[in-house]
Amino acid sequence: MRLGVNIDHVATIRNARGGKHPDPVRAARLAGKAGADGITVHLREDRRHISDNDICRLMNEVDLPINLEMAATDEMLGIALATRPNAICLVPEKRAELTTEGGLNLLTQGHHHLQKFIEEPKAVGIHVAVFIDADSGQIDAARALGVDVVELHTGAFCDSDGEACKTELARLGDAARAAVHCDLSCHAGHGLTFETVTPVAAIPEISELNIGHFLIGEAIFSGLERSVARMRVLIDQAAE
Ligand code: PXP
Repeated sequence: MRLGVNIDHVATIRNARGGKHPDPVRAARLAGKAGADGITVHLREDRRHISDNDICRLMNEVDLPINLEMAATDEMLGIALATRPNAICLVPEKRAELTTEGGLNLLTQGHHHLQKFIEEPKAVGIHVAVFIDADSGQIDAARALGVDVVELHTGAFCDSDGEACKTELARLGDAARAAVHCDLSCHAGHGLTFETVTPVAAIPEISELNIGHFLIGEAIFSGLERSVARMRVLIDQAAE
């Protein structure tokens, strides 16, 4: 199972003072040294953390696949086509939200709107994912749209406890099986921590986890390499 480390919040801290420190490129290199298979960044419309220049530097200076999370807008499509990350993940984006609160609703956003954001990147060799909730209707719609990958939103699982937590985990497992059954790769992420990662990483159909906020927060206490390395061990143990 691959681990994509989301370094958005390194840029959040940098931007708090408007300077160059801490540098997301340095964080990306350290994450790779500690066992990350790829780097994930979300270029938001309001540029609250990662900047356009960060994307260029990551592409040029880091020897790891870059996964660009982006809203389905013409501006972001242009940036993706110009910078050519290895993969993009289409996410819903609301200006006032603190983080990506849920998956895309492919049943309402439908074909007409999303088609070009999938077809044009695919035509130049960029893998395309959609970030969706663990729901079979969403998976069928993703397949019909022609994406390569679905990324399942794990936030509902991470935020729940007791019986609800079991229900959410079962939904993730069912959705992952449904995705692989229709020849889609299945990734997952959002809100994962050292505590919540194990049951998700144990779902064999999931091939990549994207984790950010917790790892960067934990790095304050233990350092980024230790934080990423510990997550790597937990994922590998769960996947055995
Ligand atoms: N995957 C996607 C598509 C996301 O939007 C995010 C948050 O940017 C993550 C994974 C990582 O979530 P977290 O930062 O909570 O680990």
